[in-house]
Amino acid sequence: MRPFTAERPVEYPAKPAPVRSRAGLSHLPAGPKDRTPLLTMRFIANTPKFLLNLYRTYGDASSFFLGGELFLAVFSPEAVVDVTVKKQHSFVKGVGFERMHKVLGRGLLTNEEPVHLRHRRMMQPPFHHHQLDEYARVMQEIVRAHLEGWSEGEQLSANEEMMRLTFQIVARLLFSTDIDSYAEGVQHHMGIAIDRIERTMLPGLDRFDRAPLPYFRKFKESSDYLAGVAEDIISKRVASGSHGTDLLGLLLDARDDEDQALSHDDVRDETLTLILSGHETTANVMTWALAYLRDRDDLWRIVADEAAEFMPEGEPPSLRQVLQAPMTRAIFAEALRLAPPVWVSPRRAIEDVDVAGIPVPRGAHVIVSQYASHRNPEFFPDPEEFRPERWEDDLESRLPRGAYFPFLAGTRKCLGDQFALLEAHIILMEMARTRRLKPVSASLPAPEPRATFRPKGGVISVVVEA
Ligand code: HEM
Repeated sequence: MRPFTAERPVEYPAKPAPVRSRAGLSHLPAGPKDRTPLLTMRFIANTPKFLLNLYRTYGDASSFFLGGELFLAVFSPEAVVDVTVKKQHSFVKGVGFERMHKVLGRGLLTNEEPVHLRHRRMMQPPFHHHQLDEYARVMQEIVRAHLEGWSEGEQLSANEEMMRLTFQIVARLLFSTDIDSYAEGVQHHMGIAIDRIERTMLPGLDRFDRAPLPYFRKFKESSDYLAGVAEDIISKRVASGSHGTDLLGLLLDARDDEDQALSHDDVRDETLTLILSGHETTANVMTWALAYLRDRDDLWRIVADEAAEFMPEGEPPSLRQVLQAPMTRAIFAEALRLAPPVWVSPRRAIEDVDVAGIPVPRGAHVIVSQYASHRNPEFFPDPEEFRPERWEDDLESRLPRGAYFPFLAGTRKCLGDQFALLEAHIILMEMARTRRLKPVSASLPAPEPRATFRPKGGVISVVVEA
């Protein structure tokens, strides 16, 4: 029997009707006029590139129609801050989140106010700084054990290795679960689920989900499998007789102002959201960092020195110290700039709203894109170059708000940003002082933009000793 059955009221704002014509909207920014499937095909073929082309051709804002619905793409720091912070309440999550919703249910990534803030407050404590300090030690143990399993000369897929490692970290720290029995299944089914989420960046495509095609059947099977893993983790915990003090314990014991527990479905959806959002993103940026470092032995040597200084042997690592390692930090800042795991944040205007001087009509799709905005040559000269050195002299603090936002901002800002940076720093520094993965190819992998920004082919690498 399910222990939590209490249904909670959920008040999701209904999405307004899309805007289908420019009539009466003469003030819209310029953009491609094409309303034929050709534009749609260019959009689908490579969405990040499409958005970057818009930015380079039309500047800070542009408008266009996809699937007959109005889209605005906005790139300036001011517009990004308006959409994500100052006027965030004029927006709800946009295209792509419908299908994500079918995998993750109503977890933090997909829910809306007022449920979102209530859940977010309940889930914040495991991400506080003093808690992260505790995690650092366990992260280091897990990373060391994982790297010990590699032998010199062995060929491995960097992305698969990073997925396994980051999954293990999230499962152990947030759910106190050893995940060996799930690891392969989660990786396989998450691969399918995430692959099919981003194809629905087009409005209305989710209506084909019930079509009797293997493509959609597999999506459903994978979503069901993932929900089953979360159910399994929860029922084992409940059966153990003690809820524990980790994130899952917190969700199981949480009570709101009216002393109501979360429903079983809420606990499952939040569990699943944390498992999925908490590992593929970090694994991808780790893999991209390894690819960018493929011919930078000079930087590896600096990271090894930083490991000795900021994560000395024999002392438990601490969040504050680890995140101070300047070159390691700069490497991730640069990898997150060029290959942001969350490369686009689509929104939908639920009321007429002014975004950096552009009047956005209710119902319009509004896209901000980390991938495109992070390539502004005004802030990042030679934007396509991987150049960690640009982050010296504290570039981040000199940038205007909204110029660099790999973790977004506002109330929808990533819950796990410090968690992710901490584990990424520990992984890179441990690799620098023991053994690391060196990509076999001399060139960068092609991007495979889905719900996250994947490196195509997984970056086949060889293990080299430090
Ligand atoms: C480098 C790794 C990561 C990146 C770049 C990243 C980026 C992001 C971004 C951009 C969002 C906002 C998405 C949107 O609203 O459009 C987000 C949300 C979120 N992330 Fe992360 N993330 C990372 C790692 C993690 C980790 C490790 C966790 C948890 C352990 C996590 C948990 C979440 C959650 C729960 C949300 C939803 C927050 C809310 O709406 O309240 N993320 N992330």
